[in-house]
Amino acid sequence: MIDVAVDVGSGVTKVRAGDKRFSVPSLAGIPTATGHDIEETEGAIVQFDNETYATGERAHTEVRPDKLVNTRDDSWYEKDAYLALLYNAMAKVLPKGYEGKVSLCTGLPQALFLQHREKLAKRLARKHRFTVNGDEFKLYIRMSDIRILPQVMGLFISRLDLDRSLQYQKVAVIDVGTYTSDWTIVDQCKTLHWASGGAPIGISNVIEGIREYLSEEHRNRCSYAVAAKAVSERQIRSGERIIDLADHIDKIAFANSELLLASLSEHWGDGKDSKIIVGGGGCHVYAPAIRSCLAHAEVIADKDPMYSIVDGYHSYLFHSRQKEEKGRRKNTGRPEQAA
Ligand SMILES: Nc1ncnc2c1ncn2[C@@H]1O[C@H](COP(=O)(O)OP(=O)(O)OP(=O)(O)O)[C@@H](O)[C@H]1O
Ligand SMILES: [Mg+2]
Repeated sequence: MIDVAVDVGSGVTKVRAGDKRFSVPSLAGIPTATGHDIEETEGAIVQFDNETYATGERAHTEVRPDKLVNTRDDSWYEKDAYLALLYNAMAKVLPKGYEGKVSLCTGLPQALFLQHREKLAKRLARKHRFTVNGDEFKLYIRMSDIRILPQVMGLFISRLDLDRSLQYQKVAVIDVGTYTSDWTIVDQCKTLHWASGGAPIGISNVIEGIREYLSEEHRNRCSYAVAAKAVSERQIRSGERIIDLADHIDKIAFANSELLLASLSEHWGDGKDSKIIVGGGGCHVYAPAIRSCLAHAEVIADKDPMYSIVDGYHSYLFHSRQKEEKGRRKNTGRPEQAA
């Protein structure tokens, strides 16, 4: 049995098994042509149920933009393209051509969690047979080996691993993602606001804002990917010059964070003397705005925030399987047989 944690985000899919961790763009669709050599192109061709999907970077070149799965659609978790991304991610951490049992932890945005978790679990609990760039995998996933969490709880759990005292506290948790930000309030490890719905803002708003700024103020028309890199480095080289983007990034993040903070404080009051845990890929960009608007709260920004959710899933899987194993030993005196 191999434990695998997968955080399928609307922009980036993150996967972890043991110490192996990867991320791939959440791009998938049926390709019009697969003209490139598999070895030469980043991304993967995923085949299952007589269907072929291009995923990750490959989807950029081989799928018509209007045929890419829309990861902002609430029903995209029910699409085969979602499975293609999940398979591509799992193939990155499993031994090549693995056949055997997998226990899987993944998540859903909070707004979809109560309604969709059972449907998703039912889809995942079966034998999965697929190929990734020609390597065949056969995975057996039992219902009892599936864990589905609200994504934002993955962030809380990853933080709990670093600070066990959080289990007795009331904290706000904010996951700033690519297109959306989800938040919840956790009191003694129980979430109080299931369907916050979050806010339709994320790191993409800042990236698009910076693209516009560069084009209008510096006549520098760059792609989304170049602007994303510039946002993470907080500067960009333009010809001979380095343009410092720090102030402008903060300004855009401040303007955008209003919506998120308004919805949070509606349920949290002023959150006096409380902690706010911030994670997700947009964490470092939005944390200064969150910090200055809620100055009385302790804002904890994750160091490696894009992976914090998948790290939390991984830890949850590990601990819950250990607990089960203990229970099994107590009842039967025997450990479970390995796959
Ligand atoms: N250190 C960083 N500084 C700035 N941006 C970053 C940094 N690390 C990651 N990012 C951005 O974060 C994005 C991904 O964030 P994340 O993986 O949390 O989103 P997601 O899970 O796809 O979105 P959602 O949770 O809304 O579905 C990347 O596309 C990248 O642009
Ligand atoms: Mg996410």
